[in-house]
Amino acid sequence: MGSDLRVYPDLEALSRAAAESLVELAAAAAAQTGCFSIALAGGQTPRRLYQLLATDYRGRTPWPGVEVFWGDERYVPHDDPRSDYQMARETLLAAVPLPRENIHPMPTDAADPEEAAQAYERVLRAHFPSRPWPRFDLVLLGLGAEGHTASLFPGSPALVEERRWVVAAEVPVAPPRRLTLTLPAINHARHIYFLVAGAGKREALAQALAETPDVARCPAAGVRPVDGELVWWVDEAARGGPGATSEGTM
Ligand code: 6PG
Repeated sequence: MGSDLRVYPDLEALSRAAAESLVELAAAAAAQTGCFSIALAGGQTPRRLYQLLATDYRGRTPWPGVEVFWGDERYVPHDDPRSDYQMARETLLAAVPLPRENIHPMPTDAADPEEAAQAYERVLRAHFPSRPWPRFDLVLLGLGAEGHTASLFPGSPALVEERRWVVAAEVPVAPPRRLTLTLPAINHARHIYFLVAGAGKREALAQALAETPDVARCPAAGVRPVDGELVWWVDEAARGGPGATSEGTM
């Protein structure tokens, strides 16, 4: 399906455009299979998208068929303000009619994150049975200023993982203990959406879009869907200011 770079004036515009596209994907998937599996991103950028899904787009999303997973998680209690689950709960999950059993947070209560990673992989394998890789309908991702995505950071051994779907990782930003999907687990998704806003992401975005990706240096460059669609939803500040290229296939 290829990759697509879509540039918008600001975070509000890119969030609205991404919400519009997301609810269309959800409706199509739910109509076709009765289910729409989404892996949420953490951090701050997706907050506005989640708020829009909980308000303006609430009535257009087939919530009973939506299965919510996470692409990564900080290894802190779910009620910790740094938790990605907590951010999604307060901006989206608490406001929509999602059955409780459709929400699959990454566990962070085991003493050993490695144990939690294996437990989450079992959850995913139960949802995507008899598959070599998970087949999310949509994976949402953010981009760190130094090129990380999910909790895949530059130089991480997780970047060369070719068998496991979920791993524990130590990262150079607080909180350091993380759980994350691996690149193959991300790359087998039907659709992958990056949400990127702000001038601080400009260099990382340029690296991630480079023709010859340096994944060790910029893990986001390793997000290359096997047979799905990749869309970059970015604002002008991240792309390089007003007049930056708008919609176009890379
Ligand atoms: C996390 C995210 C992480 C995030 C980037 C960008 O748990 O923090 O999964 O990968 O997407 O760090 O974060 P911002 O959107 O806050 O810039």
